[in-house]
Amino acid sequence: MEKPVFAANWKMHKTIGEAVSFARKLTESIGSLSDREVLLAPPYTALSAVSLACRDSAVSLAGQNMHWEEKGAFTGEISPNMLLDVGCTWVILGHSERRHLFGESDVMVNDKVKAALKHHLKPLVCIGETLEERERERTFAVVGKQLTGGLNNISPGDIKALTIAYEPVWAIGTGKTATPDEAQEVHRFIRKQLRELYGAEAARSVRILYGGSVKESNIKELMGMPDIQGVLVGGASLDVDSFLNIARCPLQ
Ligand code: PGA
Repeated sequence: MEKPVFAANWKMHKTIGEAVSFARKLTESIGSLSDREVLLAPPYTALSAVSLACRDSAVSLAGQNMHWEEKGAFTGEISPNMLLDVGCTWVILGHSERRHLFGESDVMVNDKVKAALKHHLKPLVCIGETLEERERERTFAVVGKQLTGGLNNISPGDIKALTIAYEPVWAIGTGKTATPDEAQEVHRFIRKQLRELYGAEAARSVRILYGGSVKESNIKELMGMPDIQGVLVGGASLDVDSFLNIARCPLQ
């Protein structure tokens, strides 16, 4: 089994100075890591400085988004090579805020996943249902469609480089976490879908993270579920002590 992942998604937060002092404290406190991976996804403006602060440390760097083209007239976008150039090894793709606030479709997410794989950036692909979809008992249909759409035409060999984050939209930034059982139920469904699409071996090597109001008080229970191999943390990752307590969660 691959190592669990503890990822901080800072979204549109932190100046360069704030980001660097967080990264310094995190790398010093976390030391070397053998049983887990820890990622920081700072805003673009802080990537370069955080990359320097994390150099020779166990902490990896992720972009929060990426365009699928290599270069061109795409004002406001960032390319795979730009993320690699600044030291990213991961990229978050298809976050629900990208999908719902900026109109990202499964086709666009799929193009981005293919571009990330081509450039050897590890894609962290986010999927999840809205409250309305959950209440209409559409959770599995929505998550299944995002999964098959986002991973369209990806080979079983490439699938292994992928990490999925199940992030129910109703739990993001709301303080409402899915219960560990609710999360596990969807994680198990995702694992089954992956098995059917790509075979047992590939499905086993894909890590499925949970995201949505993860905090110090619920991390242990979430990580105790059999199909949860890590977390993507928004709000509770903005404070270094809070994120450290999450990222140091004892593993069973
Ligand atoms: P949250 O965000 O932890 O603030 O709910 C999670 C995310 O959006 O990845």
